[in-house]
Amino acid sequence: MKETLARNISRYRKERGLTQEGLAQRLGLSFQAVSKWENAQTMPDISVMPELSKALGVNIDKLIGYVSQNEQVSIYEEEYKIQGYYWGVEPNSTCYRLIQLVPPTKHLKLLDIGCGEGKDSVFFARNGYDVTAFDISDAGIEKTKRLADKIGVHVNVFKADILDFRLDSNFDIIYSSGVLNYIKPEYRDELFNNYKKFTSQNGFHSLNVFVTKPFIAPPPEKEPNAFKWHSGELLAHYQDWLIEDSSEIVFDCNSSGIPHKHAMTKVIAQKISTLN
Ligand SMILES: C[S@@+](CC[C@H](N)C(=O)[O-])C[C@H]1O[C@@H](n2cnc3c(N)ncnc32)[C@H](O)[C@@H]1O
Repeated sequence: MKETLARNISRYRKERGLTQEGLAQRLGLSFQAVSKWENAQTMPDISVMPELSKALGVNIDKLIGYVSQNEQVSIYEEEYKIQGYYWGVEPNSTCYRLIQLVPPTKHLKLLDIGCGEGKDSVFFARNGYDVTAFDISDAGIEKTKRLADKIGVHVNVFKADILDFRLDSNFDIIYSSGVLNYIKPEYRDELFNNYKKFTSQNGFHSLNVFVTKPFIAPPPEKEPNAFKWHSGELLAHYQDWLIEDSSEIVFDCNSSGIPHKHAMTKVIAQKISTLN
């Protein structure tokens, strides 16, 4: 929690346009105190939390990284409550590509960011990867567990918000499909630096994002927490990695019962040791 709190204080302070000194002044503290919180050296005293939350304009739960059980962030929460699987149980075609590229011939840790109802996580687990997965949706997490149980595999799945979750240990593969659009543009650099840092040498990222195109109408579902990327933006995060695959597709979609189109960029990249 210390790390999350540190990151959130820094993030919301900057969002409010406050300096460490400015925040400290409002709280009647020294700027060193704020600096130590943001470096995760110390944590604010509990008595300071209400004032701190007021100054940063964010509630205490959010500040400490607690995702309320009642807070509905994902439009999929309701969709996932149906009996069947909203996204089906067949894995995304990219999963097969990844298996070819990084066969699980040794112990490999894979993270599925925004696993939904778990079709891809369970596919990786049944193929021998050590899978960790998270999503913001309770219903999605329950269904992931159910699917894993049915197939007889284990997925370490938990609830987390992509905006708050940071890695502090290595993964060999980081995989995400249809989820990175929930990262606000201003947090992308910081988040990608974290994902890249905590990827093992020779490890892989396999990611996709929805991108804006002037010739494609906005989707019918209104998602206030989703933000489009630009063509080439995802790839730009991997200038220093080996690009195994990079492509952009336009496809038809019928989610919500209204036919529409999406443009999506995909990247598979490998972290290669730097030359000395
Ligand atoms: C288009 S679905 C993709 C699900 C899954 N990756 C798949 O391909 O089946 C997007 C997923 O992102 C999750 N999501 C939305 N906002 C999120 C957030 N802030 N943090 C984590 N997951 C989030 C949703 O609950 C949903 O399961």
